[in-house]
Amino acid sequence: MLNSIAQTQDDVEAGLSLYQLLDPEVLANPYPLFHRIRSADPVHWDVFLHSWVVTRYEDVIRVLRTFSADRTPTPEQLRSMGLEQLSPIAALMVKQMLFMDAPMHTRIRSLASFAFTPSRVAVLRDRIGRVADRLLDRVLDQGEMDVIAQFASPLPAIITASMLGVPEDDHEQLKVWSASFAEMLGNFQHNPDRIPGILKTVEDMTVYFRDRIREQKQHPREGLVHALLTAEVNGDKLTEEEVVANSIITMVGGQETTTNLIGNGLLTLLRHPGEMLRLRSHPALLASAVEELLRYEPPSQHTARIAPSNQMMGGKELQAGQAVIAVMAAANRDPSRFPDPDRVDLGRTDNRHLSFGWASHFCFGAPLARMEGQIAFERLVQLPNLHLQPAPLTWRTNLGLRGLTALPVSFDRRALPPQFDG
Ligand code: HEM
Repeated sequence: MLNSIAQTQDDVEAGLSLYQLLDPEVLANPYPLFHRIRSADPVHWDVFLHSWVVTRYEDVIRVLRTFSADRTPTPEQLRSMGLEQLSPIAALMVKQMLFMDAPMHTRIRSLASFAFTPSRVAVLRDRIGRVADRLLDRVLDQGEMDVIAQFASPLPAIITASMLGVPEDDHEQLKVWSASFAEMLGNFQHNPDRIPGILKTVEDMTVYFRDRIREQKQHPREGLVHALLTAEVNGDKLTEEEVVANSIITMVGGQETTTNLIGNGLLTLLRHPGEMLRLRSHPALLASAVEELLRYEPPSQHTARIAPSNQMMGGKELQAGQAVIAVMAAANRDPSRFPDPDRVDLGRTDNRHLSFGWASHFCFGAPLARMEGQIAFERLVQLPNLHLQPAPLTWRTNLGLRGLTALPVSFDRRALPPQFDG
């Protein structure tokens, strides 16, 4: 009898674990799992992940606002876990703004903000439009494309190169590195077979950015690398190691996520043809449409923090030092915050979703990502008779960075509207 109670308990725990995401069916639509966790146990101790899993809107905000982002394992911790070969990765991460608390975080972030002046953003806007048109020009005659490979991947990769101020021709290499690093960022556990590849990526990216820094000291180019090198507040400047580490996190942060905003967002529109039509005939909805697509299918589904002290949340006692996973994708569909949360409404107002995070770590690149999303959807929804090709969809096995491996679509190339001419 005791055994069967324990078994039932295990089944319940297993049913509520984020490990369920390893099941391809759950990965294809994780939202019923998130609803289940949020209703049954909104502050849930996941025995398999050895972390708290927080799914309510208010709790996710509290975690993102007040818990510690300093979660990179120390060399001693890695050694005790038998993972000392990951040390070079941890050494890079501790210098990246995403994994720091104030005052270190405030210092790096305010120096980095020099890279996004209004004039720089205007230059990038123009560039996004031109690159989007160029990518679409290549496929218009074919009447079909894989949106991921032919548009949603190269667009952010090329724009990332411009944003950083490195040669645009390097974008394919940047994409490969970003995909490799993101693989590690998005997943709960490290696949031992992938470790050598990620170590090589870290080494190659570091050499690449050191070389670009050396070049830029001689021949400055406008962009984030140069802005990080020269930014100064009260005589304080970033070290070369900090410039390298934060160029890397910005390079990675801006690629997989933006690809997935375009891919997940377009899939959502294809699955909701009424909303697609609404956007096509009311381009003024573009800004709110991007927010709703971000809320509904967040490219970055969850993030992690450390409890800074013993404290109660949702009737549970969290201990200082315990890991907490804040599931923004669940919070975005919390019915106590968003009426009818599973409905796509491109005109939704009061849409303060958590897809870019919250508070001090709120996405550094959000203005750029929004611009890329708006320009991409503005063009894609105008493709006449756009529809999904009848092929099964496959989601990347990255549990945190949600995105498709491919999105094959067709359109009527004989009915292209005039804006696609020339
Ligand atoms: C749709 C696209 C994007 C999404 C969904 C997204 C999502 C996020 C989220 C959720 C965070 C906070 C993570 C946390 O609190 O743990 C974040 C932080 C960050 N993002 Fe983005 N991001 C996007 C695009 C970009 C772009 C284009 C860039 C580069 C320009 C970028 C660079 C960063 C950086 C550097 C941080 C760390 C900020 C900090 O720690 O202060 N992201 N992003």
